[in-house]
Amino acid sequence: MSAAAPSAPAVQTEGLTRTYGSMTALSSLDLTVNRGDLFGFIGSNGAGKTTTLRILSTFLVPSGGVARVLGRDVVTQAEEVRRIIGYMPDFFGVYKDMEVTEYLDFFGACYKIPAARREKTVADVLELVGLSEKRGSLIGALSRGMQQRLGLARVLIHDPQLLLLDEPASGLDPRARIEMMAILQELQRLGKTIIISSHILSELQTLCNRVAIIERGKLIYAGPVQGVRGQIQGGNVHRVRVAAEPERALEVCRSLPGVGQATLDEDGRIRVVLGGPSPDPSVLSTAIVQAGLRLTGLEEEEVGLEEVFLHVTKGETQ
Ligand SMILES: Nc1ncnc2c1ncn2[C@@H]1O[C@H](COP(=O)(O)OP(=O)(O)OP(=O)(O)O)[C@@H](O)[C@H]1O
Ligand SMILES: [Mg+2]
Repeated sequence: MSAAAPSAPAVQTEGLTRTYGSMTALSSLDLTVNRGDLFGFIGSNGAGKTTTLRILSTFLVPSGGVARVLGRDVVTQAEEVRRIIGYMPDFFGVYKDMEVTEYLDFFGACYKIPAARREKTVADVLELVGLSEKRGSLIGALSRGMQQRLGLARVLIHDPQLLLLDEPASGLDPRARIEMMAILQELQRLGKTIIISSHILSELQTLCNRVAIIERGKLIYAGPVQGVRGQIQGGNVHRVRVAAEPERALEVCRSLPGVGQATLDEDGRIRVVLGGPSPDPSVLSTAIVQAGLRLTGLEEEEVGLEEVFLHVTKGETQ
């Protein structure tokens, strides 16, 4: 394997673009995924998730820009990239009449794992995804959740450093989803970098340490899940209530640094959008009290993550 920069990120794209005829599926995407990340790639139908994952896994050539996987270029070093990634497509062929071990052994042979080692490798990956008991079953006799886990076992067979999983939890019932998420956490613990796509932001909020949201092929947000609300709404929304003189309290709030917007609600509360990298609502209470006003309430508006996501992606799908 060629000398790739040892500190190169797991994935780095610069200006990554893909067009289909006159349609731009991916538009100048700049994305960095660090080693060890469990990275959520979120977007609604047609946003460009599969296109991105297929480019990263060398199945699709970009129309412009570059993409590197652990420092290797996906176009000029495609062979090397294939060896270090495991790609699980959103739709994978079902070999219904094959037995579980036969299927994994077949893929092990494709990756040129010597026959003597394959048996142990197959047993290991089955153990990892919790399918050891089904080793002799026909694939067609497995439940959907088990088939998804088998798909995961298949991409683990050559011990790749980076897993690219296109909606691995789609179509699974809540229990199977939780099981899948637990397996992914275990894989992260074992040192793998994992990119998982989904169209449900809230599904990934506890699982992933970082997420990217794309819409119409453009990046809307990249960073920790906790930052999504702040960046997309322009800040966190707080409600301030004072015993009297709400207009004066409104002026106080407006004068504060970090306050993007402050308005007086019909019920006499002040709605304040607090921005900045780490908005601290205590600046509001301190300023109100220092102005000689009596603070009777300060609370953060709970906006569901899914609500925020729906708001930004509303009507944007192609
Ligand atoms: N082979 C193709 N030919 C023409 N257009 C395509 C092709 N593949 C994808 N597209 C278009 O590119 C855009 C992005 O598609 P992509 O499959 O990457 O989205 P996605 O985010 O994976 O969506 P989904 O959630 O539905 O899987 C869509 O508008 C789609 O119609
Ligand atoms: Mg897709």
